[in-house]
Amino acid sequence: MRTARPGAKPLELERSRKMFEATRQVMAGGVGSADRALVEPHPIFIARGAGSRMWDVDGNEYIDYLLGYGPLILGHAHPKIVEALGRQAGRGTIYGAGHPLELEVAERLTALMPSMELVRFGQSGTEAIQSAIRIARAATGRSLIVKFEGHYHGWADQVAVSYAPSEKQAGSPRRPTAVPMSEGQPYGTYEDVIVLGWNDLDTVRAAFAERGGEIAAIITEPIACNCGVIEPVPGFLEGLRKVCDDAGSVLIFDEVQTGLRIALGGAQSLYHITPDLTCLGKAVSGGVPTSVVGGKRELMELVSDRRVFQSGTYNSNPLCLAAIPVVLDRLSEPGTYEAMESLSGRLRKELQALIEPIGGYVQGTNTVFGLGFGPGEIRTMRDGWRNSTERIMQLKGALWSRGVYTKPTPRDIWYVSTEHTEEDVDATVERFAEAVSLLD
Ligand SMILES: Cc1ncc(COP(=O)(O)O)c(C=O)c1O
Repeated sequence: MRTARPGAKPLELERSRKMFEATRQVMAGGVGSADRALVEPHPIFIARGAGSRMWDVDGNEYIDYLLGYGPLILGHAHPKIVEALGRQAGRGTIYGAGHPLELEVAERLTALMPSMELVRFGQSGTEAIQSAIRIARAATGRSLIVKFEGHYHGWADQVAVSYAPSEKQAGSPRRPTAVPMSEGQPYGTYEDVIVLGWNDLDTVRAAFAERGGEIAAIITEPIACNCGVIEPVPGFLEGLRKVCDDAGSVLIFDEVQTGLRIALGGAQSLYHITPDLTCLGKAVSGGVPTSVVGGKRELMELVSDRRVFQSGTYNSNPLCLAAIPVVLDRLSEPGTYEAMESLSGRLRKELQALIEPIGGYVQGTNTVFGLGFGPGEIRTMRDGWRNSTERIMQLKGALWSRGVYTKPTPRDIWYVSTEHTEEDVDATVERFAEAVSLLD
């Protein structure tokens, strides 16, 4: 097993290259999900992961800060998760009926996040968001949804809008144009979405002054993790809460990124804002596919009494739910978040010191942050237009080839897990310094 070292030759990736060539013959684009195609010189094929590390099919080792795009808060193949999944697999992987685990997990999650009085479980964040929007529309009898530029709420037609519009497409900041992410999204599927700029309460108030009586919901990431890891400016989330209250609209927090990662109680517990509906995914189940939609009893009762149809073959899947008590137990141990945050804080500080002299910055909070090359920290998606996408991708290429694995998109996110160590940070900083020295 070879380990990438600073100064080492570019990684040997022959097996990955061949596997990519073969995969392209049978899978669209040779990858399982859109962004995975962006890794240069070609996607890397992973043989296994353990803790903070993973190894590709050529035997190269990576310190992993992508963590499966966020879920692996306990790292790869955590022994207790492996054991819990094995135990549950032996008892059956699906029943199409209730089971004790769903009761246990629902009780624990509703206790941790009191805004969720009732919950339903699904598989992906995308599904949870769809449920939340349907509930909000049913509860209000309205159809308009407010979503913010740069925020990502999954790939479904009605919200895959204005995630990364170009300057040419996006329209004015006060009246952004709703820009679909994909071909095949007819206007009719997202015409009821009002796109606004995040962290700008005035435009939200203006939109509500004009059409508040028609707005079913505001959906927001409470920390904008998908366009640079931007924290809300003071008063912004409180302002959203108030406009929703005044207009009788539903406030949906998409905590697919932040739930359990930022704190056990999610971003809502840090900012002390109570949303009406919450969506969880990613970290909640530590790397097996589970999502949660939950919220106020009166809203979720629309699901209880079947006025809102919410269903799925794999809902409350026992195999996936088996991981959740392990995640909750580990994250509830005293000092867990403090340790992750302290490690992440040191990493951010050291990366910042290395990247600043070459025009870069590190932005984020807690155990989630991103890097950028531009005039400085960004407050909205539009600020990010001033950043150099070439430079960040160049840096990423240099990091991958030194055994540091990060998200393969210019909009950067690094995640830290309970399994990362001071030694990981030392090695990362050393490799980062070498990568930075290679940038023109
Ligand atoms: C904030 C947010 N919401 C929703 C989603 C969609 O989740 P999934 O990819 O599980 O469908 C994501 C995925 O990255 C996300 O970051």
